[in-house]
Amino acid sequence: MEGKKEKTFKFVIVGGGIAGVTCVEQLSSQFPSEDVALFTAGPLIKAVTNYKQVSRTMEEFDVEEKPSSVLEEKFPNLTVIHSAVKSLHTHSHCVETADGRVFGYKKLCICSGARPKLLTQENPNVLGIRDTDSVQVFQKHLSKARRIVIVGNGGIALELVYEVKGCEVIWAVKDKAIGNTFFDAGAAQFLIPSLEANKAEVAGPCKRLRYTMEEPAPDAAQTFTADKYSRGQNPGTVEPGSALGPDWHRGIELQGAEQVSHRVSVEYQCEVEQIFTSEEFLLSSKQTLEADTGSWPVYVQLTNGKTFGCDFVVSATGVIPNTEPFVHGNNFLLADDGGLQVDDHMRTLQPDVYAAGDVCTACWEHSPLWQQMRLWTQARQMGWYAGRCMAADVLSESIELDFCFELFSHVTKFFNYKVVLLGKFNAQGLGSDHELLVRCTKGQEYVKVVLSRGRMVGAVLIGETDLEETFENLILNQMDLTSYGEELLNPNIDIEDYFD
Ligand SMILES: Cc1cc2nc3c(=O)[nH]c(=O)nc-3n(C[C@H](O)[C@H](O)[C@H](O)COP(=O)(O)OP(=O)(O)OC[C@H]3O[C@@H](n4cnc5c(N)ncnc54)[C@H](O)[C@@H]3O)c2cc1C
Ligand SMILES: *[C@@H]1O[C@H](CO)[C@@H](O)[C@H](O)[C@H]1NC(C)=O
Repeated sequence: MEGKKEKTFKFVIVGGGIAGVTCVEQLSSQFPSEDVALFTAGPLIKAVTNYKQVSRTMEEFDVEEKPSSVLEEKFPNLTVIHSAVKSLHTHSHCVETADGRVFGYKKLCICSGARPKLLTQENPNVLGIRDTDSVQVFQKHLSKARRIVIVGNGGIALELVYEVKGCEVIWAVKDKAIGNTFFDAGAAQFLIPSLEANKAEVAGPCKRLRYTMEEPAPDAAQTFTADKYSRGQNPGTVEPGSALGPDWHRGIELQGAEQVSHRVSVEYQCEVEQIFTSEEFLLSSKQTLEADTGSWPVYVQLTNGKTFGCDFVVSATGVIPNTEPFVHGNNFLLADDGGLQVDDHMRTLQPDVYAAGDVCTACWEHSPLWQQMRLWTQARQMGWYAGRCMAADVLSESIELDFCFELFSHVTKFFNYKVVLLGKFNAQGLGSDHELLVRCTKGQEYVKVVLSRGRMVGAVLIGETDLEETFENLILNQMDLTSYGEELLNPNIDIEDYFD
């Protein structure tokens, strides 16, 4: 390998996603005269635009796909190599590309992201959604579909279920409530009416309650039918090369074959048992089960015994980190979720090899208010921090874990509501050692606070609550709130005045 090196770069970054591009930007700005290389498979890179620091830990930005030349123009000493990395040789400090070229590195950062877990590789009617291409494939399938089955309960499933219209949706979730990755059952109940399109509903009275975990599960299956799907403006059709950003579905028509309604039925607490092609299904005895007649391209048998025929299945059941090209022959530690383990300096077990974004698993001792989730914000933060750590290492400087890893925060939109998640928003890892305060105004807002020993450790804010900064401060300063009790969520008290 040593002799074949075409060139050795000071810094090599693999992956043109948010993590990789942010890392490149950080290093290229700090070391404008060093040779930096970005290896990426596709012609486009993902760039963060309109970045806005909203508060101490909250940030908002757009993600745009751009030609990589934009980066090279900005950083003349950056080389973008359009080829996937096929293998990594940590002993000789070099990477080999799919087209057989070998390049050396002094410091390497792996930002190769993750790919969707697919229920099956074999059936062309089972789709995963990952990038712009897969969204377009999905869209094409959808335009002819009358019924689809969506499997999964994370952010992607949530968005799809809400955005798809003109097509019946069967949504299989393994939990007792929708959106389990982001919400508890209470928030799910708040959001469910959004799937019934008639939004003319009057805002209900403001309820406040205090409860300690485990609400009843929603009915085993609920069906929401709506005649008019009356949300927002009609999104236009997709332009070529359009971005798959945080708003990846905006501007993309997610329209099925039927003109009619928004129809979603949720199948709770079940997973996929088996997937049949139409031939397999005809041959099997399953057709006597609870499946409708009529022939469908694909059939899904769920663990609750029900079988549904549909045009296609979307598997949105999480991701697998893209580690394969790197692990072979090297001594990395992989975490349980398949990610490359990194320490508090984003270092893997191999010298001079760092990792950031979806491909890595944060294995340092986390702040009690932070957890890793594979999201845009964390990809940006990790890419940026990895760049700074690589720089510090080169300069023999010390560096402390960045403040952004103190408190988990995520600002997003679900079902057209603004959603802010802070800290241990779902009481993650707290066991029974916590208490919840909830305030909910139907169709308007849902506010949940997680308290542990009288201190606020997490919050879910849905709607325009305007509480995020105050709550962020209360979580960060860990003030004892015992004496405030439920007053904390009293809508008639301006909480800001209280604490400022
Ligand atoms: C459909 C969808 C919707 C999402 N919506 C949201 C959302 O609304 N909000 C949110 O916060 N997060 C969302 N996410 C998650 C978010 O996309 C990821 O957390 C984030 O993109 C991770 O960034 P990354 O840079 O680590 O990886 P990626 O963006 O996956 O980039 C990885 C890069 O590495 C390249 N690569 C891979 N292997 C190699 C190789 N061997 N050699 C060279 N290059 C390689 C790829 O081509 C790619 O350019 C969504 C994800 C999906 C799939
Ligand atoms: C690129 O690197 C060379 C030296 O390697 C340096 O002279 C030049 O100024 C650098 N370019 C920029 C734009 O910094």
